[in-house]
Amino acid sequence: MTETNLRFPPGFLWGSATAAYQIEGAAREDGRTPSIWDTFSHTPGKVLGGDTGDVAVDHYHRWRDDVRLMADLGLSAYRFSVSWTRVQPTGRGPAVQRGLDFYRALVDALLEHGIQPMVTLYHWDLPQELETGGGWPERETALRFAEYAGLVGAALGDRVELWTTLNEPWCSAFLGYGAGVHAPGRTDPVAALRAAHHLNLAHGLGAAALREHLPARARIGVSLNPSAVRPLTASPADHDARRRIDALANRIFTGPMLHGAYDDDLFADTAPLTDWSFNRDGDAAAAHHPLGFLGVNYYAPAVVSAGPGTPTGEPSPWPGADGHVTFHQAPGELTAMDWPVDPTGLTDLLLGYAAEAPGLPLYVTENGAAYDDKPGEDGRVHDPDRIRYVHSHLSALHRAIEAGADVRGYFLWSLLDNFEWAYGYSKRFGAVYVDYETQARTPKSSARWYAGVAAGGELPLEVALEPGGF
Ligand code: FCB
Repeated sequence: MTETNLRFPPGFLWGSATAAYQIEGAAREDGRTPSIWDTFSHTPGKVLGGDTGDVAVDHYHRWRDDVRLMADLGLSAYRFSVSWTRVQPTGRGPAVQRGLDFYRALVDALLEHGIQPMVTLYHWDLPQELETGGGWPERETALRFAEYAGLVGAALGDRVELWTTLNEPWCSAFLGYGAGVHAPGRTDPVAALRAAHHLNLAHGLGAAALREHLPARARIGVSLNPSAVRPLTASPADHDARRRIDALANRIFTGPMLHGAYDDDLFADTAPLTDWSFNRDGDAAAAHHPLGFLGVNYYAPAVVSAGPGTPTGEPSPWPGADGHVTFHQAPGELTAMDWPVDPTGLTDLLLGYAAEAPGLPLYVTENGAAYDDKPGEDGRVHDPDRIRYVHSHLSALHRAIEAGADVRGYFLWSLLDNFEWAYGYSKRFGAVYVDYETQARTPKSSARWYAGVAAGGELPLEVALEPGGF
């Protein structure tokens, strides 16, 4: 490597990330019961092609091979989520030992290979029984989450040092209960706001319950998907559209979690819908459990201008913003998700949080891209677009470090091709290709490229695609 390479700090974690419902399969084994994603994916018309996570990539049976794969790639960290209904099938009461044993064995195998586990307690798979009882719009669900967090903490707290409570609560609340494109598929703007509030509360209560089982050195964080939202023009009206989306996408969570309070403009914007009386005294303070780090998930920036936005009556993930905000495609090449490639949003977000929460360590807990990967005639899977995507985002991350952000690791989404929620298996995000017929795993060029970066702890300035591919 040359001296012009970008060096990352010592101890920087080179990870990959997955989520239980997207990879595990074994949906009805060992006492696991349906989560809202089982119900949703089995509801005709909700997921492309009628795909479900029943089998997924069979990680529940192939986890040893998958850990070995990570070890072969030289990864230093792995972020995965615990399936709530594998551990606590009804969302209340005692834990199922077989469920906990699965995750203990996984963690032990990771540690044996020198791979640091980061456990996500909740990556969208609410026990169906809790949804039937009202789901995230109801306060009770936050209390149930705290109990579950304590159970997982008691089982894994002696061996896991990095924890995130929730993954992307914005998606849980606003895609799940507002737009209805994610489980549980409800389209009620007030339910979405109530869900967001109870997710904040769940984060705080869950972190407190978890903390009781952890040694002092362990850190509890949360993975948000903050919107790097930009105004289309410099006009005051476009700036106000940006402010509204910043409130609904970002500050609705970082307000309570980082500062112990919601911002008044969020209440004002949503006042036509709700008086927020579900926000009881002390809730925002409870959500303000001291964070050990903030996890940032980043894929693409957003561009907004003033109104009119979603036509009235169409389900929207932006309660209170309809009629005020129009979304525009940000410039840039598109991935297979039609998401523009623009790494500058990542630098902006990391520097923004470094300034907003001085001293708080940051991790990029997800970043990656889907492309239409296919094995070539040589049986290998060449994905130069993904290499370029990851290279440009690691460069953007490095720029944030150079400008003073304390970023301690990067988790590539995803280790394996997997069940991409409402898109089913049609979108491949993996560094490792999965043949869904045989479950065979084939590292793509990007996996080998990423392994090289992880091994050296430094990034070449330019992407040099080896002749013949990596
Ligand atoms: C994120 C999710 C993750 C995956 C990626 C592509 O929003 O957290 O599970 O679907 O997007």
